[in-house]
Amino acid sequence: MKLKTLGQIKNLKGKKVLVRVGFNVPMKNGQIVDDLRIQFALPTIQYLIRKRAKVILISHLGRPNGKRIKKYSLEPVYRNLGTRSSKMKKVGFVNDCIGPTVKKTIDKMEAGDLILLENLRFYPEEKKNNLKFAQSLASLADIYINDAFSVCHRRHASIEAITKYLPSAAGLLLEKEVKNLSLVLQNPKHPLIAVMGGVKISTKIGVMKNLIKLADHILIGGALANNFLKADGAQISKSIYEPAMIKTVKKLVKNKKIVLPLDGRIRFIDSNQSLTTKINELSLLKKDFELLDIGPETIRLFSTYLKTAKLIIWNGPLGYFEDQRFSLGTRQIAQTIFKHKKAKLIIGGGETLAAIKKFKVYNFHSLAKDKVFISTGGGAMLEFLSGVILPGVAPLIK
Ligand code: 3PG
Repeated sequence: MKLKTLGQIKNLKGKKVLVRVGFNVPMKNGQIVDDLRIQFALPTIQYLIRKRAKVILISHLGRPNGKRIKKYSLEPVYRNLGTRSSKMKKVGFVNDCIGPTVKKTIDKMEAGDLILLENLRFYPEEKKNNLKFAQSLASLADIYINDAFSVCHRRHASIEAITKYLPSAAGLLLEKEVKNLSLVLQNPKHPLIAVMGGVKISTKIGVMKNLIKLADHILIGGALANNFLKADGAQISKSIYEPAMIKTVKKLVKNKKIVLPLDGRIRFIDSNQSLTTKINELSLLKKDFELLDIGPETIRLFSTYLKTAKLIIWNGPLGYFEDQRFSLGTRQIAQTIFKHKKAKLIIGGGETLAAIKKFKVYNFHSLAKDKVFISTGGGAMLEFLSGVILPGVAPLIK
């Protein structure tokens, strides 16, 4: 997939460049919990500043449903950007994203200046891909850059409609995401091993169907595995699964590429006690339980596959890792994956990144490491890997 890219645009000096970034960062009590998405957007911002463009950042934060709600303000992100001002000129902030105040502020900008505008989703038109709203955004600038891979699966005004009104290209992060994720889709290195976990099978079934064609093996853990175990006739008691998906999962479960847990760690609902048991012995248990982690035999089995891999793609934790009793599977598989020096790693999903952070298996600041690619996309990564051309990427294809 060849994209129109930022690097191909000449003469950026003095040009007003509207950059759609994915600053949808996790927040708690008005504080940013994790600023990885801001950190990953910096190369494009710094490139534009070096080229003496006037940089106007636009983003959404959370789901304010078209209303101006204080807790969804991008002001904390503006302050975070401000702390990086040794690398950039002073950052500005406008508490709107369209309209006369925004225009006036932009008119006063000098080459190399940077401003952040307020949350796009304070306007319901953003999510409706409204053309007038897109036009209002476009009227602020000369060029549009999409660097928000994490939102490219959304047909929203600042992602799709806006490309109708401005010369458009992919930012450095978006370019890198598409390049790395395409390694899975186009002539991937083999063995390609996919590790899939997390909770919602309905959001992951598309990518699993595509990975069955591309990968050598798909190792399944987390609550995702419960659906497969159930479809395979296992007794999973009160474990989370999606009944509406069982029919679809039944069609995949016998595929030889699918590798399911052999054992797991369960929690009894009544007593809250936990124990490790084989999957084919679950039916012997007399009390209600939930399956919350893969067991040691499964960890060994998955590790055997992973050690042969040339390309590993990992999305979703393998158990309820937030509780120490059910964290072993995710921790040990993360360690196996990161210790394996010969494979390229492609990793994504908010929970997966939280697990990697918790178990300290990777230093996120060493962005230069070529072997590891951390995707900023959750839903976007899954949709991209399911083979769909994302609505945000389609208009940027050459
Ligand atoms: C994300 O954080 O995954 C994206 O920003 C998309 O957010 P949304 O699911 O609210 O559209």
